[in-house]
Amino acid sequence: MEFELLTAASAERDFYGDSLILLEGIIEEFLSCLGMMRRCQVSRGRRDPIASVQTRIKRADSMKKKLARQGLPVTADSALGQVWDAAGVRLICPFVRDIGEAVALVRAIPGVRILREKDYIRNPKPNGYRSYHMILTLPLRFLGGEGHGPVWLEVQLRTIAMDCWASIEHQLKYKRNIPNQELIVRELKRCADEIASTDLSLQTIRELIEAPGRAV
Ligand code: GTP
Ligand code: MG
Repeated sequence: MEFELLTAASAERDFYGDSLILLEGIIEEFLSCLGMMRRCQVSRGRRDPIASVQTRIKRADSMKKKLARQGLPVTADSALGQVWDAAGVRLICPFVRDIGEAVALVRAIPGVRILREKDYIRNPKPNGYRSYHMILTLPLRFLGGEGHGPVWLEVQLRTIAMDCWASIEHQLKYKRNIPNQELIVRELKRCADEIASTDLSLQTIRELIEAPGRAV
């Protein structure tokens, strides 16, 4: 999944048509609410668990391929109704423990309805991929709740280190037909595991600094 600014190009306008505004709307609505909740948290003297945010609307070419692969009609309606990741937000957190706090903030957004959650941190993918995924929907206030089914948003939460690994692995995936495939897969998995162990060490260091005597 490639994340970009909310500047849908003409291919996306052509494919999603009038539905593009719904995808832009769910991202805006989510970010605006989450942003204020983060500010409330900070104003009450607590840490902001989120370091940075990325957003993207799935590119028309990759959405068309996904629909075709799943045997679904290649239309904007099925892109919005049958696929859950047309709109995506990635929340990047400094520490592993921040992810749980960020998930709690997301769950507390008024009107949010969560369809599915996948914890690839407790249960990493066999290739080493780690992240926490949520599929959710929100009421779109600018439409007054009229005239459309739920608009789904995929939220991915990960640490800075997990994001580093996933971005590099994503780039390498495009390089097909290379020699030593098995070795590369094994080495990427090893890097993912080392990163996970470094994430835990960084978490412990933070706890030692914030509450000496409690962590260890
Ligand atoms: P999709 O049809 O790909 O959306 O699969 P799914 O419905 O099983 O969703 P899943 O939660 O497994 O993954 C959805 C998204 O997570 C992908 O579009 C990627 O952005 C990201 N992701 C999942 N697995 C990997 C991986 O192995 N490497 C990287 N770099 N990203 C991944
Ligand atoms: Mg996807």
